[in-house]
Amino acid sequence: MYTYEARKFALPTLDGISEKSVEEHISLYQGYVKNFNTISGKLVEYAADTEKNAHALSELIRRKSFEFDGMRLHEYYFEQFEGGAQAPDADSELSKAFKAEYHDYFQEYFKAIGNMRGPGWAILYYDTVAKQFQAGFVGEQHQGHFATLPIILALDVWEHAFLLDYGALGKTKYIDAFFKNLNWGVVEKRFTGVLA
Ligand SMILES: [Fe+2]
Repeated sequence: MYTYEARKFALPTLDGISEKSVEEHISLYQGYVKNFNTISGKLVEYAADTEKNAHALSELIRRKSFEFDGMRLHEYYFEQFEGGAQAPDADSELSKAFKAEYHDYFQEYFKAIGNMRGPGWAILYYDTVAKQFQAGFVGEQHQGHFATLPIILALDVWEHAFLLDYGALGKTKYIDAFFKNLNWGVVEKRFTGVLA
């Protein structure tokens, strides 16, 4: 069984997202890694007698993708801040594709998805078959993904991402801060990777 390890992120000081908030958020991320490993181990144990452990197994199987997606999505999230804020490159493949599909409203549209009610993530995917983006809202971390589509941009909009800095009604301000700190270079690199 593969044991996942929590990644370390070289995060700069963020503008509008406090160090305390980031520190607690990283701890939550580490919890997902730990829980995924624990569940994976327990599944091996319970699989020895599937009949006896049927209920425990089904519950753990349901929880497994919650923990895995929590782990992986936070890795996508935090690495988007590494290297510091970087504006989009107007000549990048991503900017060109945005222009073709969203004209100038991508950020406004994506922010509106982030502002949807409920804990979850605003996620931008790219479908290489249709050559178009899919922007969606993933409930918690695992409900509503576009199967197989690679993730280009991941915005955590759980309350834990903004409660400390902005309060329960501060999601909009937090989303603005997210975009202020975003390293678009990371996002552009993901996109060119997907096109390759
Ligand atoms: Fe989070």
